[in-house]
Amino acid sequence: MSLNSPIIAPSILSADFAKLGDEVRVVLESGADWIHFDVMDNHYVPNLTIGPLVCEAIRPHAQKNGKPAMIDVHLMVEPVDRIVPDFAKAGANLISFHPEASTHVHRTLSLIKDNGCQAGLVLNPTSPIHLLDHALDQIDLVLLMSVNPGFGGQSFIPSTLTKITQVRKMLDQYRKTNGRSIRLEVDGGIKVDNIAAIAKAGADTFVAGSAIFGKPNYRDVIEAMHKEIASSI
Ligand code: DX5
Ligand code: ZN
Repeated sequence: MSLNSPIIAPSILSADFAKLGDEVRVVLESGADWIHFDVMDNHYVPNLTIGPLVCEAIRPHAQKNGKPAMIDVHLMVEPVDRIVPDFAKAGANLISFHPEASTHVHRTLSLIKDNGCQAGLVLNPTSPIHLLDHALDQIDLVLLMSVNPGFGGQSFIPSTLTKITQVRKMLDQYRKTNGRSIRLEVDGGIKVDNIAAIAKAGADTFVAGSAIFGKPNYRDVIEAMHKEIASSI
């Protein structure tokens, strides 16, 4: 279990794109903490979604208690570096990318930081966790994919639970040695009925797209998720 307070980050991939500003506002009013923003390029993943212009358009709507809410940009693009400053200018707060999509991971992480954002690394379901070994000093978040990236509405891959436990240990050890806490986010197939197990394994940040935007009352789902997380402690 993590010491960090749990964060629910709805993925707007499953929101109604014809009224995205409203969706962002309503989901944050309904108890969501962050907005998860999935960027797909039809190259690194076989789907095409949204870019910096849309990030800029939702920025004024992403507010929580009168303050800007975190926009958590998940880049599924290759190459990565060209687009990073555009997202920073568009109001992103945290930018994560897949290390396989960048030739020079250290340089990309530095670029994200130099542009004033927090940085995250994303591991696909079979990507080894040792990819994190030499990057921990530069990152604020690890994002573990629990589906293959590219689409919302897929099923959670159960082997991710073991991987969450392993990364939790790594991050706890890092916190003990360095006094800095790195968040552990999980993305894909998270629902009310499996979120407790994911929290118990050690995740503290939960992306959920279809589970939230697929239901008429976002608040009910988010509250049920928080209850499940609390029950896992
Ligand atoms: C998948 C995306 C996810 C996705 C999650 O490539 O990174 O963020 O939208 O959607 P659900 O919760 O429906 O699996
Ligand atoms: Zn995502």
